[in-house]
Amino acid sequence: MLGAGCLRRALRFCSSAPFPRHKPKAKLSVRDALGAQSTSGERVQVQGWIRSVRSQKEVLFLHVNDGSSLESLQVVADSSFDSRELGFGSSVEVQGQLVKSPSKRQNVELKAEKIEVIGKCDAKDNGFVNIHTPVITSNDCEGAGELFQVESSSKIKEPEENFFNVPAFLTVSGQLHLEVMSGAFTQVFTFGPTFRAENSQSRRHLAEFYMVEAEISFVESLQDLIQVMEELFKATTIMVLSNCPEDVELCHKFIAPGQKDRLEHMLKNNFLIITYTEAVEILKQASQNFTFTPEWGVDLQTEHEKYLVKHCGNIPVFVINYPLALKPFYMRDNEDAPQHTVAAVDLLVPGVGELFGGSLREERYHFLEDRLARSGLREVYQWYLDLRRFGSVPHGGFGMGFERYLQCILGVDNIKDVIPFPRFTHSCLL
Ligand code: 4AD
Ligand code: MG
Repeated sequence: MLGAGCLRRALRFCSSAPFPRHKPKAKLSVRDALGAQSTSGERVQVQGWIRSVRSQKEVLFLHVNDGSSLESLQVVADSSFDSRELGFGSSVEVQGQLVKSPSKRQNVELKAEKIEVIGKCDAKDNGFVNIHTPVITSNDCEGAGELFQVESSSKIKEPEENFFNVPAFLTVSGQLHLEVMSGAFTQVFTFGPTFRAENSQSRRHLAEFYMVEAEISFVESLQDLIQVMEELFKATTIMVLSNCPEDVELCHKFIAPGQKDRLEHMLKNNFLIITYTEAVEILKQASQNFTFTPEWGVDLQTEHEKYLVKHCGNIPVFVINYPLALKPFYMRDNEDAPQHTVAAVDLLVPGVGELFGGSLREERYHFLEDRLARSGLREVYQWYLDLRRFGSVPHGGFGMGFERYLQCILGVDNIKDVIPFPRFTHSCLL
């Protein structure tokens, strides 16, 4: 509990803090502010995150919390403050007078004289809620078997001595966890380390990389997803270019001359959309000789992806509707026999090839049950099937590799040059 003496000591301590028009202010935690005994208008400063916003005609109520107390501090601001800036989740620094609250709900409130937004909460701005998906998981989301197993370092002899009782792995994707949460929050995202035991020395594969993934409920078509992907790429790039122009220019000047123009070309054009079937046709008609002969039903190789982007005038291109047999169990069946494709979408970009991978998810119980049963996964994914039993909705999402994104905008040829400690086959330095 903070008494007047404590406030005065804090005031003395902060007496050098700049605040030209008023007496010096004390920096208080929310807990200390709430416990203040004296509320004779001491000038204080509180930092924290906005937990709620209530806007009335002439006054704005914010609840600010810094984690020091379960209760939040009520901040009262007049209508001259821009409420659009003061959104849920944003971090703020509030300066003002601690006064007795007229409401019975709290003893004190902070009458704001100045509110500075330290970090705007963009995630919530766009309606996406940030979810921390686990790094250790028992699922192989992509079904490609590129898993690193996690076990305690002391030797295990019996299978039931597994640390988690079941085999556990480093995550290859947070998608399945995001699907759970999108059922509660509609639009969710995660950004975190992702691991693949890919035996590849290529210029675009790492064993540990970062991925931003989004999952959206109530999407009706691939077009809805494609729009979010294109906006994410363009908005992020515009922000990077305006916030750190010197760093980007340095790369463009010394590593990739001409990249600035190539990037502007990508930003000012609408990205293209072609089907996988069209892509294979384009490749078959190409005059170029490929190491891997293009053929319907076979995965596109990096050389194919790069050719397609060039063919599309070096504008990023979405390739949609891949053969069902090439894609993981969760992708939505297009029911387009005899071809039999799924509602998958990859975004191919100049210089890199695949940057985003996404799809509509199979939300129909019996379709999914069938697919899982055929791959012998029915039992393991019962929980995932159950999501389709309790009010499931059409939904979809995507993932974008962060290092490949940096390669694309900076014009860096090798993925190992955009990460300080690259991990790849036969290399785990430090
Ligand atoms: O296409 P991927 O495998 O898609 C998924 O994991 C989905 N579950 C995502 C989702 O729908 N939520 O991976 C997504 C992206 C790729 O397009 C690529 O940019 C990047 O992750 N990526 C890699 N980046 C570096 N090294 C690797 N080994 C990568 N594997 C995938
Ligand atoms: Mg992919």
